Amino acid sequence: MLIHHIHTLVQTLPAETGLVRGAGMQTLPVLHDAYLLIEGGRIVAFGPMAECPARADVQIDAKGGMVFPCWCDSHTHLVFAGSRETEFVDRIRGLSYEEIARRGGGILNSARRLRETPEEVLVEQAWQRLEEVRGMGAGAIEIKSGYGLSEDSELKMLRVIRRLKEMSPMPIKATFLGAHALPAEYRDNREGYMQLLIERLLPQIAGEGLADYVDAFCEKNFFSVEETSRIIDAGARYGLKAKIHTNQFNSMGGIEACVLRGAVSVDHLEVLTDEEIACLAAGHTIPTLLPSAPFFLNDEHYPPARRMLDAGLPVALATDYNPGTTPSGRMPFVISLACIKLRMLPEEAINAATINGAAAMELSADCGSITPGKLANVFITRPMPSVAYLPYAFGSHVIERVLVKGEG
Ligand code: NIG
Ligand code: FE
Repeated sequence: MLIHHIHTLVQTLPAETGLVRGAGMQTLPVLHDAYLLIEGGRIVAFGPMAECPARADVQIDAKGGMVFPCWCDSHTHLVFAGSRETEFVDRIRGLSYEEIARRGGGILNSARRLRETPEEVLVEQAWQRLEEVRGMGAGAIEIKSGYGLSEDSELKMLRVIRRLKEMSPMPIKATFLGAHALPAEYRDNREGYMQLLIERLLPQIAGEGLADYVDAFCEKNFFSVEETSRIIDAGARYGLKAKIHTNQFNSMGGIEACVLRGAVSVDHLEVLTDEEIACLAAGHTIPTLLPSAPFFLNDEHYPPARRMLDAGLPVALATDYNPGTTPSGRMPFVISLACIKLRMLPEEAINAATINGAAAMELSADCGSITPGKLANVFITRPMPSVAYLPYAFGSHVIERVLVKGEG
């Protein structure tokens, strides 16, 4: 398959680039007036139109549009049941996210609904969302459990994700987020719930290969740093690395515990101290920012991306698609928010949503750039005057066609 007459081929990185960091994130390599050759679902070559191969079984005319590598969305909760617009209205009337959670809404509200919903229905609904996000340019995605909060329902969620992995050509990573909220049945027995997660669920999940990572919501009124550390250590015993929700509302020491334990990523970071930035700079954990969560919660605390970039960090961006804090998997909007609210340059934000998102899912060998050998997960835009036009035109659908493994 040949894509020809590409006005700008974006993110043409050499194979050895695993991620980009700090000042390096301002560089987004492009090739103008280009072709892209795909074979067997992988990128085999690209170059200037002047050297375009004459023949190919399938030819796509990009008609002067741009071609990007698909987004790598490294943090979502795309399997869920029902919606939470009642809480959305409650917040408009003045209730806070934490207050709603304390009253038994929030994550526990989604857990009640998920428990009642049959596996097949969850598969069908999650599949629709997966198709929707693919249409908005996603080509690799991480999906978490965490709305089951019981043995049966956490396993049910992870089986739904396994089913999505079988159905979709997209690389999908599954994360076990049993430590998302303390279920009502364990209100007076935190230790019992921790034991359920660590001693009953983890061995089954690892045994059936149902998860690639473990996660915990390290936050006041959710899980402590000590509990989060226990989850990470238990995951490690089963060969599961960690991707952890931390510093969404409070800085409690979660970053240090995660970096020390070699977590793949720490996610949210709306509240982040200089000491924590220094700690990240000394480690290998990828800071992943989810700006549509504070946007949707109308929280003035956005992650301090500029300070992080100045410290040389490899920032990633993800959607956090979930029914509570981000009922949207629209990565182009996340990139616009990163530019507007986090003051990231368009090049930095696109790096964060492609190559660094791939790194945050350990998919750098297959995804995140236009590189021979990687999967042909690319999207074609309508003609745009520049790369910066994509975050600038925040309400427009500039993505016209999405190919995953060369198909679509
Ligand atoms: O990433 N913060 C914790 N988890 C999700 C929200 C979960 C929910 O409200 O349903 C998040 O924002
Ligand atoms: Fe999340």
